[in-house]
Amino acid sequence: MLSKSMQKALNGQIQKEFASSYLYLAMAAYCETKNLPGMATWLKVQAQEEWGHGMKIYEFVNDRGGTVTLQAIEQPPAEFGSPVDIFKGVLEHEQKITAAINDLYAQAVKENDYATQIMLQWFITEQVEEEKNASDILELLKMAGEHVIVLDHRLGKRGAA
Ligand code: FEO
Repeated sequence: MLSKSMQKALNGQIQKEFASSYLYLAMAAYCETKNLPGMATWLKVQAQEEWGHGMKIYEFVNDRGGTVTLQAIEQPPAEFGSPVDIFKGVLEHEQKITAAINDLYAQAVKENDYATQIMLQWFITEQVEEEKNASDILELLKMAGEHVIVLDHRLGKRGAA
């Protein structure tokens, strides 16, 4: 059984994951308008992954006898600037999500909630990957300069998770 405080915190994380999905979809939509179909594809796959992260916590809350309460998702921006700006935004967003996951883990430790700790370990590992992916692409974009279209083509090869 989940404590009320853990349930509240996990519901907050469900909101953050779904909001991430919405943010990346907004970035994808922006890339479509800028003739960057590869980046749009990469971001759409990322948006799907984030939806999956939200659902993972959703299922966990239910499995532990808790109640999922969905929260509002605010409207994401419509403009994201250059490709470098976009992926800087992705990296900064992922760093915030990592901090939120770490806070959740610390709370689960404090509450001796072992099941939630084990569930969150998947997210801790995932965040290492998420930050690495965003950071690698950001570095490539900084180097790509006028060759950004070649990189866009490469990002378009990302398959669905
Ligand atoms: Fe669900 Fe990108 O963290």
